[in-house]
Amino acid sequence: MAASVSVMDPQDWLIRLERRAQLRATAGLARELRPRGPRDDVIDLAGNDYLGLARHPDVVAAAAAALREYGLGATGSRLVRGATDAHAALEAALADLLHQPAALVHSSGYLANLGAIGALVAPRGVVLIDAHAHASLHDGCRLSGARVERFAHSDVAALRAELARHVSSPVVVVTESVFSVDGDLAPLCELHAACRDAGAVLLVDDAHALGVLGPGGAGAVVDAGLAGEPDVVVTATLSKAVGAAGGVVAGPAALRRHLVDTGRTFVYDTALPPSVAAGALAGLGLLRDADDKRALARARARQAFGVLRDAGFDAREPAAGVLSIAAASAQAAVAWATACREKGVAVGCFRPPSTPDATSRLRLTINAGVTSSDFGHALDVVIAAAP
Ligand SMILES: Cc1ncc(COP(=O)(O)O)c(C=O)c1O
Repeated sequence: MAASVSVMDPQDWLIRLERRAQLRATAGLARELRPRGPRDDVIDLAGNDYLGLARHPDVVAAAAAALREYGLGATGSRLVRGATDAHAALEAALADLLHQPAALVHSSGYLANLGAIGALVAPRGVVLIDAHAHASLHDGCRLSGARVERFAHSDVAALRAELARHVSSPVVVVTESVFSVDGDLAPLCELHAACRDAGAVLLVDDAHALGVLGPGGAGAVVDAGLAGEPDVVVTATLSKAVGAAGGVVAGPAALRRHLVDTGRTFVYDTALPPSVAAGALAGLGLLRDADDKRALARARARQAFGVLRDAGFDAREPAAGVLSIAAASAQAAVAWATACREKGVAVGCFRPPSTPDATSRLRLTINAGVTSSDFGHALDVVIAAAP
């Protein structure tokens, strides 16, 4: 007699997903998509619009003009459909600002990171990544197919020890500059010295420093005097201080050439819409002249740190515009962020796996476009709403 074959219920996978959703809910790790109207009725300390440029009339006008000329979608990759003047001008402006020989725009910062790491990794290569680096950097390492090792957060001695273990392999070292969840700054010069001694390449994701740190908002790599070094590559998103969307890989011209020929997240991805490229270019122009807003954002981050620390909270000293405050648990973080929102203040709520350690936290991202009185009020709300 033939053995009976057990046929899976076609709904099994849905039942599994439902169980996992319940487990996440029990652990306080469910996420919620809240509706958002065109006019925010909250004080925004959750978004990444550090300089308040996303709604700047010049940015909106530049994007609207390109939208009328080119239509909405890019309709294909730039290799297939051509590179518009807006893309070319944006790349020239980015290379100039970042003091790098060349820049290649991708349709997001996430994809720029995947592309950059894939390009830098050599056959039989090794990637060493800071344990607190952004998910897109970790994903880029995984996808690169290289051997990947994490080193302890911002620990130069730990990095040197890892480099010593891999002397016979080509190595890429990956870090953020300003860390997106905790807001601290990587020791870029020391990391670069370790890379230089070992013949490794350093990739820095400057997402949270572009526009906020450095001369003319050129970011932390320029600020550290490392821009243009042949063993340093920079990535960044245009979705934060630039107020737009898209991502960039900046470095030697040979890297750009390599990405245009082989970068999967460039070649096989529809281009950034020309309207967004034009808006980003306008944002970049404003960003360079926004020393007052940069100074304000950084002063507010320090102000918030002082106020919250004096009120007894476990806040981390911010290097730029990201202020992180530890919460007792994932549930406490959700309750805290929800209470803030109910009082009209939007703050970031970070829980595992979005936090680099197991600690849940509130994240305040400073927006120089918020009025001083709203900002002071928002800090009062954050303190009063603590569970
Ligand atoms: C450090 C860092 N890198 C990369 C990204 C991804 O950029 P994008 O949103 O443009 O994909 C983010 C978040 O958005 C980030 O915080």
